[in-house]
Amino acid sequence: SNRIMLGPLVAAIDQGTSSTRFLVFNAKTAELLSHHQVEIKQSFPKEGWVEEDPKEILQSVYECMDRTCEKLTQLNIDISNIKAIGVTNQRETTLVWDKETGEPLYNAIVWLDLRTQSTVERLINKTPGRNKNHLKHKTGLPISTYFSAVKLRWLMDNVEKVHEAVLSHRAMFGTVDSWLIWCLTGGKKGGVHCTDVTNASRTMLFNIHTLDWDPELCTYFDIPMEILPKVRSSSEIYGLMKSGPLTGVPISGCLGDQSAALVGQMCFKDGQAKNTYGTGCFLLKNVGTKPVMSDHGLLTTVAYKLGRDKPACYALEGSVAIAGAVVRWLKDNLGIIQTSTELEKLAADVGTSYGCYFVPAFSGLYAPYWEPSARGIICGLTQFTNRSHLAFAALEAVCFQTREILDAMNQDSGIHLSQLQVDGGMTSNRLLMQLQADILCIPVVKPSMPETTALGAAMAAGAAEGVSVWSLNPEDLTEVTSEKFEPQINPEESELRYARWKKAVQRAMNWET
Ligand code: G3P
Repeated sequence: SNRIMLGPLVAAIDQGTSSTRFLVFNAKTAELLSHHQVEIKQSFPKEGWVEEDPKEILQSVYECMDRTCEKLTQLNIDISNIKAIGVTNQRETTLVWDKETGEPLYNAIVWLDLRTQSTVERLINKTPGRNKNHLKHKTGLPISTYFSAVKLRWLMDNVEKVHEAVLSHRAMFGTVDSWLIWCLTGGKKGGVHCTDVTNASRTMLFNIHTLDWDPELCTYFDIPMEILPKVRSSSEIYGLMKSGPLTGVPISGCLGDQSAALVGQMCFKDGQAKNTYGTGCFLLKNVGTKPVMSDHGLLTTVAYKLGRDKPACYALEGSVAIAGAVVRWLKDNLGIIQTSTELEKLAADVGTSYGCYFVPAFSGLYAPYWEPSARGIICGLTQFTNRSHLAFAALEAVCFQTREILDAMNQDSGIHLSQLQVDGGMTSNRLLMQLQADILCIPVVKPSMPETTALGAAMAAGAAEGVSVWSLNPEDLTEVTSEKFEPQINPEESELRYARWKKAVQRAMNWET
């Protein structure tokens, strides 16, 4: 028939905290040809706990793949042109499964989960000088509820099935990338148990200098090394798809979602940065091939290693736990909006928070504070305050939190970013983008193709040795079109609002004392 000739295509699985996507790109033009998205349920079994079902996550991937392939066929695009698949994922989220039955032994403990708060406090109390940065020289990370090691420790201590599987050498640990790759490449019948350096660098068991699991860290958390996946680069063939419409296609790219966005935004040069607005909000700056440690509460993380023999590049990262999640909270918990898109209109109706400040410290505060005992507050209320003001304050909260991590980044490097590249679901909110420029006092630049996370994973997959249908040279790609938001309020007003926000943060921090 009249099939459309396009040349090689490359796909990406983007498994985020709130949803799963499968996307197919043209490897010559980076054009997005088709995609499908499925929401993921989150459960909150106790206060501060956040879990997801590993099987639902896997099913959502298969469903998105099937539906995307159907859509492509309807477009007369031959799916046999898909030459590689990349995996990108919510990071830190922790799973343990049985390698003989293939069954997960507990729900996935999501990165936002706070159940390990007391463990973290105990660990910090044990360190000389109660220093949360005790392991930072090796890991680039502070001891926090955020990273996988403490979640894995909790599973081993509290879930009998996990404990038994570890003792009988049947347990496999992984972040979402490992779980998916293992299942997609055959699961209990020969699945590949691996992860990449970017995901590994978020576990707290990984030495970011040697780029391998660290025996001392494993001893510190008392984790047996045999349950850990093999660490690979972000761009190489890990294995082949074992079932479904893409059977036989290599899985050849793997990056944590924030690293993938850095690649998708082509931030390959030292000093280039991007901010992604997803469930949380993550600002990463490429610092080159030597890790740089922060003095201002940022993380040092592996940005990418695009090939077995390629050097690793590192990033400084400012992580904000709650960004898009605040919208979901206003919708699901308060019911003041029915859909996420309503938020923009509600906030735009008033165009001000009217002095209301909302610190959504639902999971404690991440960068630059790293305070697990912080809790959310809404302050500055008067009889005049209504839900529109609250909606506006929620959007401002996302922008103020970004300002805090950008300030930390500028202080660490002594160089000020002159504009900010952004991406992620919330960037379709134009009011948010304008507010962000106003609060940062620098322009905010948004690419017209918002799926940069998936694009980065697809590029890594297509560039892998043995696949090589995609060049990672930014010059070879078609010009990326973008939109720029310039600051519109005067810097004095911006500073005043930011100073009030900081006061509100102090109240959220000292909540329990
Ligand atoms: O560190 C968590 C991060 O990887 C999750 O990203 O896009 O699901 O908010 P996202």
